[in-house]
Amino acid sequence: MTMYEIIAKKRDQKQLSKEEIEYFIEEYTAGNIPDYQASALLMAVFLNGMDEEETFCLTDAMRRSGETADLSSIEGIKVDKHSTGGVGDKTTLIVAPIAAACGVPVAKMSGRGLGFTGGTVDKLEAIPGFRTALAPTEFLELVRRTGLSVIGQSAHIAAADKKLYAMRDVTATVDSIPLIASSIMSKKLASGSDAIVLDVKTGDGAFMERQEEAEALGRLMVRMGEAAGKRTIAVITDMNQPLGRAVGNSAEVIEAIDTLKGCGPEDITQLSLALAGMMICAGGKAQSLAEGERMAQEALQSGAALQKLSDFIAGQGGDCRILNDYSLLPQPACCRQVLSAADGFVRRIAAKSIGMASQHAGAGRATKEEKIDLSAGILLQRKVGDPVKKGEIIAEVFGNDPQKIETAAAEVEKAFEISEKQPEKIQLIKKVLAEQGIEAKNI
Ligand code: URA
Repeated sequence: MTMYEIIAKKRDQKQLSKEEIEYFIEEYTAGNIPDYQASALLMAVFLNGMDEEETFCLTDAMRRSGETADLSSIEGIKVDKHSTGGVGDKTTLIVAPIAAACGVPVAKMSGRGLGFTGGTVDKLEAIPGFRTALAPTEFLELVRRTGLSVIGQSAHIAAADKKLYAMRDVTATVDSIPLIASSIMSKKLASGSDAIVLDVKTGDGAFMERQEEAEALGRLMVRMGEAAGKRTIAVITDMNQPLGRAVGNSAEVIEAIDTLKGCGPEDITQLSLALAGMMICAGGKAQSLAEGERMAQEALQSGAALQKLSDFIAGQGGDCRILNDYSLLPQPACCRQVLSAADGFVRRIAAKSIGMASQHAGAGRATKEEKIDLSAGILLQRKVGDPVKKGEIIAEVFGNDPQKIETAAAEVEKAFEISEKQPEKIQLIKKVLAEQGIEAKNI
């Protein structure tokens, strides 16, 4: 078997065998296949797809390409949560403490942001003192003690994905259903949790722009999780406008805390309660998604989830005083207001453009090595459907570099569309997909 033959087979729209897929993953991870052949195969997969059997084989080979985490020393059903990536998505900071407050252990590995999407690890690092690089023993001990810990994604987990993702990122082969499904699920299955909740984004700020594609991706990942013996739920959610009002690391931490205090934006609160409810149900602490959501609401209202966030921050060396004093978070030196150019209603806030603007303000990175400005970001003062008058503030852009702020502010202005007629309300949660035992429902 040669790499040339494998590439030619996929180029000719044929099904790859288990042996061919395993050969590719093992040899590429070991450094025995050059990047030009790997990228040719990735493009052939991007163009011609993979059937379910091939995608399952690819995922399993990637899962076995590195270490697998052992969480068996932690009691209870450990639940993981993953988002396919969006703009302003700070839900992990909210749902993990809620689920943990309801007795569901959360031992989570999270990534950094790349391109227009943010990453949980960057957001957590905006908290002074917070450590995401923990030794495995400390990570497990924290989950045992507080019910919750989040660490940076280890390069040793699903090692093939790290190399393949970097290659996909520069060869325009990211947004492919089999490649995304195998990338996400190989990491989730190797991370050791017993159940998985997947937030699959759809819209202009998501990898899957069309809802049918997001649903196909969600269904495939649910089947993969269930086939591996893990209760898996996927929810299809809107990413046609940023989630919440804050985009940027420090600002998103503040919004997450506000949400746990019961005064967060409506969309973030709604999605967080739904996701936490799914985690509580998948973790066996509730009999239905509705009961899980009720429990999540109670943990929010009673302050138990906020207390869990405080324990979590303290456990990982962070300064808990930020919960009541936001000035302890990284502060921007400059701020620029973006004003509405017309009277009317906000018809659209292009999520991807806002994500790019936030990156250009300094909050994100174009390459993995780039240093980010944790104080930089965007605050949306209007969301889709809101009325606005000419000259009113629709957004604020902040950070430490005045030139970057100017560039970002111009992009934010272009991302807003104002119309005379009020647009229809965007449906945030579009569909819940689940297999075994949990009801799947259209919302
Ligand atoms: N997130 C991942 O981890 N992998 C992808 O391919 C896309 C989103």
